Amino acid sequence: MSDRWYQQAVVYCLDIDTFADSNGDGCGDIPGLIGRLDYLARLGVTCIWLNPIHPSPDRDDGYDVADFYNVDPRFGTLGDFAELLHQAGNRGIKVIIDLVVNHTSDKHPWFVSARSSPDSPYRDWYVWSETEPADRKQGMVFPGEQSETWSYDRTAKLWYYHRFYKFQPDLDIRNPEVRAEIKKICAFWLQLGVAGFRMDAVPFIIEETDPGNPDSPKDFDFLTELRQHVQWRRSDAVLLAEANVEPTQLVTYFGDEGGSGNRIHMLFDFLLNARMVLALAREDPEPIIDALRDTPKLPAGGQWATFLRNHDEIDLSRLTAEQRADVFAKFGPDPQMQLYGRGIRRRLAPMLGNDRRRLELAYALQFSLRGTPVLRYGEEIGMGDDLALEGRDAIRTPMQWSGLPNAGFSTAAPDQLVRPVVRDGDFGYDKVNVTRQRHDASSLLSWFERMIRTLREAPEVGTGSCSHVDVPAPRGLLVHRADDDTGTMLFLHNLGPREVTADLSSIGAEAELPNDVLADQEYPEPGKLADLPVAGYGYRWIRMRRTA
Ligand code: NOJ
Repeated sequence: MSDRWYQQAVVYCLDIDTFADSNGDGCGDIPGLIGRLDYLARLGVTCIWLNPIHPSPDRDDGYDVADFYNVDPRFGTLGDFAELLHQAGNRGIKVIIDLVVNHTSDKHPWFVSARSSPDSPYRDWYVWSETEPADRKQGMVFPGEQSETWSYDRTAKLWYYHRFYKFQPDLDIRNPEVRAEIKKICAFWLQLGVAGFRMDAVPFIIEETDPGNPDSPKDFDFLTELRQHVQWRRSDAVLLAEANVEPTQLVTYFGDEGGSGNRIHMLFDFLLNARMVLALAREDPEPIIDALRDTPKLPAGGQWATFLRNHDEIDLSRLTAEQRADVFAKFGPDPQMQLYGRGIRRRLAPMLGNDRRRLELAYALQFSLRGTPVLRYGEEIGMGDDLALEGRDAIRTPMQWSGLPNAGFSTAAPDQLVRPVVRDGDFGYDKVNVTRQRHDASSLLSWFERMIRTLREAPEVGTGSCSHVDVPAPRGLLVHRADDDTGTMLFLHNLGPREVTADLSSIGAEAELPNDVLADQEYPEPGKLADLPVAGYGYRWIRMRRTA
């Protein structure tokens, strides 16, 4: 078993502004989060990933940073942040933060200076063109909300590049000063005690943008440099990258092909995410089996981060048109549930019709597949969304702690909240909240606690191999296994609505004392694995073998 912490972690992603407000100003803050650490510890979380914490005009939920060396005053002070790291550490919880260095806010003093004069020391920190680039209207990440990737700046009298929104000018990675500054930012936060970074938009960070070339080359050496730097400053720090790229390119983010893992430690598995959603929509495990088969081999130490929901839309762009249509039809039939023509802006519980069986199935599946699971706040209680809010804000409503006003998130007047809480319908906070579920041993929250505890006793899931068990299986049933030198786990997930029975006697001899460690209901002893019933939308996690 590996002793790398990130391979055994359960990561919980949250945005401070919508988590817990301690001072009643309507915005979540760091002391509020500190007050909820015991909740996260009990849930079994071992690492918190914080969405951007820096001062920001907040036009992209903090992904438009105006000062990399501070925390947003709405959240508290650097002192509060140091306290958070200490308090989390006391509970065995690590903290990683978003590192958003592909771009800055256009209000960042670097850009304000850069655009003001050709003599600015920051002029060359950004990407400019004297003439209108031919690819100006290509490569948009937010179609519908963004109309170009090059905009004209009247002050500079130049075109500047922005892969994302117009107010997010890209930094130029070719500039050695920019590279040095990014390293300094990492070093600063590592020195304070963060355990690593969720690196935003990595394919674009390393892009050596040439005006007019929509397919500019990438400088992977920067990732090697950054890894060396980060590892020198804190040996167990981790880089978790967001790189939603073609499967053939994925391994390059971890290291040179065939070489050692000398770049990113972890990558979000966007491919698996879309395939899991497709499999749930079709009630057919085939897309997941394909994903397991197609997964490239990672260098030692390389790890996938799995997720079902994150703070953005579910990106279905790598599915075929037919597959995407199936997912839309099932999970986002109404155009207002869709975003950017490629994704779904809903939380999982409403997508799955608030069906407890399917929710358990979906998360049991995610947490049992290879890699490190990442859970978005509120999913553990089955929170809903607010489609009346714009774009991705639909899934960024405040955490629902209790049935108190504002879901116990804040004591501010409702119209003062950073975002409205979900009040009405099946997902209103009087129905869906932490307090209610904590008192109920059969709640989704209690199930998550049990499931995560069980996972923590199965280290082979995080560090071992994960393979599809290729035996004739009834329709809808996925059988997979995790193996390493600590033992073997066998997983059966029935994506379909009807009960099925599996015959796994061909691997029965491998089992020492097989027993269900997690299941949707009580099942007969697995015995020789010849006759294994699994209910509709049911699942069984069976321990096969454990090394003493
Ligand atoms: C990816 C982040 O996940 C998204 O929320 C953000 O808008 C863009 N990067 C730009 O930083």
